[in-house]
Amino acid sequence: MSIVRTCIVGMGIGRPNGSAIDKHPRGQVTALCDLEEDRMADYAKTLSGEVKLYTDYKKMCKDKEIDAVFVGTPNQWHVPVALEAIRNGKHVMVTKPLADSNKAAKKVVAAAEAAGVVNMMSLSTRFSDNVRYLGGLIRAGEFGDVYYGRALSIRRNGIPAWNLGFIKKGGGAFRDMGVHVLDAAWWLIGMPKPVTVSGVAGAKFGPKGLGYSGNVKKEVWSQYDSDDYAGGLIRFDNGAALQVESFWASHQPGEFQIELFGTDAGSTLNPLTIYKCNGKVTEDIKPGLPKETPAWDNIADNFISAILDGEECQAPLRHGMIVQEMMEAILESAATGAEIRLDK
Ligand SMILES: NC(=O)c1ccc[n+]([C@@H]2O[C@H](COP(=O)([O-])OP(=O)(O)OC[C@H]3O[C@@H](n4cnc5c(N)ncnc54)[C@H](O)[C@@H]3O)[C@@H](O)[C@H]2O)c1
Repeated sequence: MSIVRTCIVGMGIGRPNGSAIDKHPRGQVTALCDLEEDRMADYAKTLSGEVKLYTDYKKMCKDKEIDAVFVGTPNQWHVPVALEAIRNGKHVMVTKPLADSNKAAKKVVAAAEAAGVVNMMSLSTRFSDNVRYLGGLIRAGEFGDVYYGRALSIRRNGIPAWNLGFIKKGGGAFRDMGVHVLDAAWWLIGMPKPVTVSGVAGAKFGPKGLGYSGNVKKEVWSQYDSDDYAGGLIRFDNGAALQVESFWASHQPGEFQIELFGTDAGSTLNPLTIYKCNGKVTEDIKPGLPKETPAWDNIADNFISAILDGEECQAPLRHGMIVQEMMEAILESAATGAEIRLDK
């Protein structure tokens, strides 16, 4: 194989992922799959070559001229589609979150690892240049021991409801936004093993028809069945801890932030700043990074290189499964009012 023939499932987030694969010298989008034919036809016009169009993902997965499948459906369909692709020997890339539950996440990881296919999460925050730059500094020891982090994702009026998957069971603010900052912060601090999780969650705006990012009819918002905010504290086996917060709607300024506390340096992601203290002299370093590569290009390149060259996949589905465990534990802790242990 010299080129990865890829099918994109889901014409929302599938588009930037697909376009990055299509413009990669060793990738090509050769098929699309969606329930909406018009969306596929529109997107197909932007691609480099002819594409086959499918409305049935099971049929698409039987196509022997497809090597890899990107899954960008609503959360509740990630695992069914990915499992079908894996059963048919395709390499898979799944958008965040990996799944709508722990059970589904474990099932797809077991299947992918047993099949030996390349399996990867598409994580636009983890693969952004700023996060990768910070990760490089931390892994080089510049921060010393990173012992605490805050990961915040806050919107004022940002409840998405352009598909019902966002607001129904298996959706919610934490699986939609919290997942980005949780994943990137956990990756930055070296992916330690989570031990205990304590969380709070609720839905203060969505079920009342408030806080949406666009006009939403009552017939949609009356089906609200997920959190619109959630947060908590995760302790790790190395003694580090992460505070994570995610609000789809709130009376607060919007924020997308990761703050890290290390023994030798700290940082904020937005704006990217490194904080140090040499004796009593404080230093705030704002690194001027070279022109940014879109995260989608970094993701596509790692996926294609893992398939064609056996390069290490930097975000296997197993990482998505561990992040899912932490997210579900925050929501379970909120529901039960008790701390959840993940080390049993
Ligand atoms: N930065 C990111 O990585 C990022 C950003 C936005 C959304 N997402 C994720 O992408 C997923 C989709 O969100 P979106 O905003 O693109 O939604 P969207 O509604 O714009 O697109 C989803 C598409 O999936 C299609 N679809 C639904 N069920 C299907 C099925 N069974 N088979 C084939 N197609 C099906 C729908 O018709 C729709 O066109 C969510 O899981 C979300 O969390 C990730």
